[in-house]
Amino acid sequence: MRTLSRLILAAPILLGCGATPPASSAPTAAIIAYCGSEARAGEVERRIDGLLPRLSLSDKVALMHGSIIQADGTWPAVGIDEFGIPTLAMIDGPRGVGRAAGPATAFPVAMARGATFDPEMERRIGEAIGREAHASGAAVILAPTMNVLRHPRWGRAQETYGEDPHHIGALALAFVEGAQRHVLATAKHFAVNSIENTRLKVDVTVDEQTLREIYLPHFRRVVVEGRVGAVMAAYNSVNGSFCSENDHLLREILKGEWSFAGPVMSDWLWGTHDTLAASRAGLDLEMPFAKVYGDPLQGAVEAGQVPLSTVDDSVRRVLRARFCYRVDTAPPTHDLAARETPDHVALAGEAAERSLVLLTNPGGLLPLARAKLRKIVVTGKLADSANIGDRGSSSVMPSHVVTPLAGLRAAAPGVEVVHLAAPPSSPADDALLAAADAVIVIAGLTSDDEGEAQVAAGDRKSLALPADQVAWIRAVAARSDRVVVVLEAGAALTVGDLVPEVEAMLFAWYPGMEGGTAIARVLLGDVNPSGRLPLVFPAREADLPPFDNTSEKVAYGPLHGYRHLDEIHVAPLFPFGFGLSYTTFAVANLLVEPATASANGTVRATCDVTNTGAKGGRHTVQLYVGGKGALRRPVRALRGFSQVDLNPGETRAVTIEVKIEDLASWDEGAAAFRVEPADYTFEVGASSRDLPLHAVVTVTP
Ligand code: BGC
Repeated sequence: MRTLSRLILAAPILLGCGATPPASSAPTAAIIAYCGSEARAGEVERRIDGLLPRLSLSDKVALMHGSIIQADGTWPAVGIDEFGIPTLAMIDGPRGVGRAAGPATAFPVAMARGATFDPEMERRIGEAIGREAHASGAAVILAPTMNVLRHPRWGRAQETYGEDPHHIGALALAFVEGAQRHVLATAKHFAVNSIENTRLKVDVTVDEQTLREIYLPHFRRVVVEGRVGAVMAAYNSVNGSFCSENDHLLREILKGEWSFAGPVMSDWLWGTHDTLAASRAGLDLEMPFAKVYGDPLQGAVEAGQVPLSTVDDSVRRVLRARFCYRVDTAPPTHDLAARETPDHVALAGEAAERSLVLLTNPGGLLPLARAKLRKIVVTGKLADSANIGDRGSSSVMPSHVVTPLAGLRAAAPGVEVVHLAAPPSSPADDALLAAADAVIVIAGLTSDDEGEAQVAAGDRKSLALPADQVAWIRAVAARSDRVVVVLEAGAALTVGDLVPEVEAMLFAWYPGMEGGTAIARVLLGDVNPSGRLPLVFPAREADLPPFDNTSEKVAYGPLHGYRHLDEIHVAPLFPFGFGLSYTTFAVANLLVEPATASANGTVRATCDVTNTGAKGGRHTVQLYVGGKGALRRPVRALRGFSQVDLNPGETRAVTIEVKIEDLASWDEGAAAFRVEPADYTFEVGASSRDLPLHAVVTVTP
């Protein structure tokens, strides 16, 4: 470990060392929550109180930036041995431990996990990734990515959970709680980060109501409910100020209103611009090395431009992160055996199975009838591709990837599985397709089409499936009436034209290292699909608000995704929350109690769910709330969801609780959230466009 203090002893800079000790800090409720207990918080704060007067200014400044040298694939913010301050080593990321650390479990991308609508599964995945990160020498995982998917062309769509802040909040909270059993999690990228190609410079103009209701609630949740260890500021600028210098976002909202007690770090290399602006706004840690911090920060303190108290507050936070999360007493290890364990790999497979969304299956070709299967043809550009997602910072390098072809071969012993590696072009191909009991086309996007900018592909050029792949599907569909298309991508594809031409469509996202097995098990009916779209699939890109990834200034209004399509009364190709099953479900008997509630009340919506088909399956019951008032509101917004496993013919009651305060709108005049006394419509059903049950709740003044 670097012995920083030796460097400092060689060139002591005494300002700050021996200065008046900062006032002893009794832990606030937020610090107690951050630290996990009052006793621990008290101990940590006393320790920091004792350390601060002993640290020189250069010690303090050194604790506020990372080191350029990557150690074992981690990015360290270096500690100081002499003071018992451990290094804070960081590693990506959202779908598993980043490739720089070597082989690790590659889970399905976060968008796929969003499609599970299952926070409990996400908690297990967070824990597994946290465990692997800790065993890779890291104390911090640079995940979850939890930005709102404003438009499916966003290059990093796959890294987040979906388009809806309630849904993102539920999944991200679970990830954080799971991961933080082993490491600190990092809520990123704070905030309003949803364009890649201009991410380093774009300024997003957003009104306060939209900011508060659409772009921030899920971040608030992981801070306030999840005690997330760290927050990463986004590259972009919001309302004229870069996120790393944004006083409103960092000091007023995150650290002020939400009482975040941990450190805010910059995004890598290009996330900082100005020493004074960043330190004043509350950027605590510049990563991965000092550009505007380090010497320039020290100089600014010495020149009286940045108060020492500002530096002390940041140092307190970076120390609190280490001590509250026991980085000193339970340091990360290097334990290869803890990565890609059979349990984690199995969990990656389970998550993939649960993430697959059956989009169409009108004639019931799926599940393929095993008993009658003799020959399957597997074709399409991605049939035998290890297609697990972006090659940017979220990239993971597993030891193996099961491709769809390999998965089908393994899952269908006794069935002849033929790989047609190019579009059919000969009489022999025609005969092969005509003789097949099923033709599976694996199509979609890869890391050449979408990903992080600067280091990978950036934003998508369109929502269309590439023309050569459309032609390939059509060539197959012209020769067989038993065609299943499996699509892989990070977010929506506009494939409406193909729907009537093929027998079934399954959306597989980037399904991780065990994806091929999961696809095979769903196609063969070993698993009944239960994934639900965590974003709307529009019929045409023009139905969505424009995606401007060339301008340096863009404006965001309150509507995107399903909210936008509801407002303009345009039907999506596939709605938010949509997904078919091999069985059918019916909901009935909605009871919302109490029907009259006050602003601090809670209502319980209960309905019966029946499996009306012939197979066991899982249903995701969704609750949306709408209604008009004086304050601007969407037609409806997701406010709760719950899952239930049902045998054929079985009925069970499902209850979803809604706190009335969660229905509050941002009142610009009052500069606060306010629950308007009004009638609120509760709608319950299977997607944002399939809501057969209604009830009205009157909120009283
Ligand atoms: C990305 C972050 C990532 C960091 C480190 C940045 O370019 O935006 O999400 O954690 O690099 O890899």
